[in-house]
Amino acid sequence: MKTKQNYPTFIFDLDGVITKTEAYHFQAWKQTASLFDYELTHENNEQLKGVSRVDSLKKILEWSDSEISTEMFERLLKEKNDRYLKALTELSEKDIIEGVYEFILDARNHQHTIALYSSSKNAEFILSKLKIIDLFDVRVDGNDVTQSKPHPEGFEIAAKLANSPPSKCVVFEDSSAGVIAANQIGMTTVGIGNADDLSMASRICKNFIEIALNDFKA
Ligand code: BG6
Ligand code: MG
Repeated sequence: MKTKQNYPTFIFDLDGVITKTEAYHFQAWKQTASLFDYELTHENNEQLKGVSRVDSLKKILEWSDSEISTEMFERLLKEKNDRYLKALTELSEKDIIEGVYEFILDARNHQHTIALYSSSKNAEFILSKLKIIDLFDVRVDGNDVTQSKPHPEGFEIAAKLANSPPSKCVVFEDSSAGVIAANQIGMTTVGIGNADDLSMASRICKNFIEIALNDFKA
């Protein structure tokens, strides 16, 4: 990929930054947790954000003090994903979070490289449903990494593919796992959402209405 050294590369998370699919993950995991008589709280859910499917189930088993066979583990992963995908049946362009589409278009027009790093293995499917897959120069998702957020592997891959040093990357994240991962390798982090959960981010914004391209001028 051609280097655009003077402009920071923007790396977007998907769930909770581009579209509000986090609520569907939460509902689907709640049902899994209830099998172990465990009520998944919003606090628990904050810790699941940005975390892979496998690691999420491991956390739920730990919280509910449960042990299951490998076969059962695989079955619960599949059942959770089936429930989650069913909830996405009607997902479309109207589910893009306010302001983010306009921000990406503006950034593209101003020569910024646009990248995605999502822990989700459903990322391509979701981007296609939202009809924005072509807006991304670089896409990295849960299928491309061996270690999920808070490990920085996916951000490292995205930076490499964008031909951009991590110090020239700005990451938009709604999860503390994602912010921790990107901070670890010296990327600038913008937390999208609740200030309490994202206190380690370089900057925190409620949404993209509060963010302008000029804020990232070199
Ligand atoms: C992340 C979400 O983007 O993807 C997590 O924040 C989710 O909640 C993870 O568990 C994995 O998603 P999927 O779609 O592969 O189950
Ligand atoms: Mg997210």
